[in-house]
Amino acid sequence: MSEQTVKIAPSILSADFGRLSDEIASVISAGAEWIHFDVMDGHFVPNISVGLPVLESVAKAFKGKTTLDAHLMIDNPERYAQNFVLAGADIVTVHTECGGAAEAVRIIRDNGAVAGVVLKPATPAEAVLPYLDVIGVILVMTVEPGFGGQKFQSEQLPKIRKLRELIDAQGLDIELEIDGGINAETAGLAIGAGATVLVAGNAVYKSADYTEAIKKLRSQR
Ligand code: DX5
Ligand code: ZN
Repeated sequence: MSEQTVKIAPSILSADFGRLSDEIASVISAGAEWIHFDVMDGHFVPNISVGLPVLESVAKAFKGKTTLDAHLMIDNPERYAQNFVLAGADIVTVHTECGGAAEAVRIIRDNGAVAGVVLKPATPAEAVLPYLDVIGVILVMTVEPGFGGQKFQSEQLPKIRKLRELIDAQGLDIELEIDGGINAETAGLAIGAGATVLVAGNAVYKSADYTEAIKKLRSQR
């Protein structure tokens, strides 16, 4: 896989929310292709982050200048899926572990966004099988969802490789996105296993130089 094909998606969860607009503008000019927007409800995960009004403001400021990638760590995603698309997400990903995931995927597509499915660490690769014809993204969690700054679980690498093989064998147009604990050491493992998009919270937003940090992640092998 050539270097240009690996996209970097900084997670705003690690940004300074008091300067969110500047923080997003900075990573876009530092070369980030996607902006990863982590939504947590305090039920599906034991943490609460940001939701629709923040996404709407961000989309108003940045629509067309980046790709807004909303990762819904919420129960009943089917209830809110349409609102996340209307708020301006280009991509909305929902957890396969949620009862309403299939319905949410249908709603996301019907409203004109790209749908994706997310796998928690304990969820097997096979959980994506019912969705292959209707999704544009598979997001593999390499930490338990809920918090930034955790350690990359390298036990997830075989699952990433398996998904890569599945996508290639069927010639599918699906991005393989990896989320959690990505840094200069682990980016190469994820890329080597077949990732095409790397989410990076702390590795970008806690670095002194966003451009350098993004370049470093992208070039790991
Ligand atoms: C965790 C979130 C991640 C997180 C990544 O639930 O889905 O996107 O912000 O942060 P780092 O890259 O610091 O592990
Ligand atoms: Zn995420």
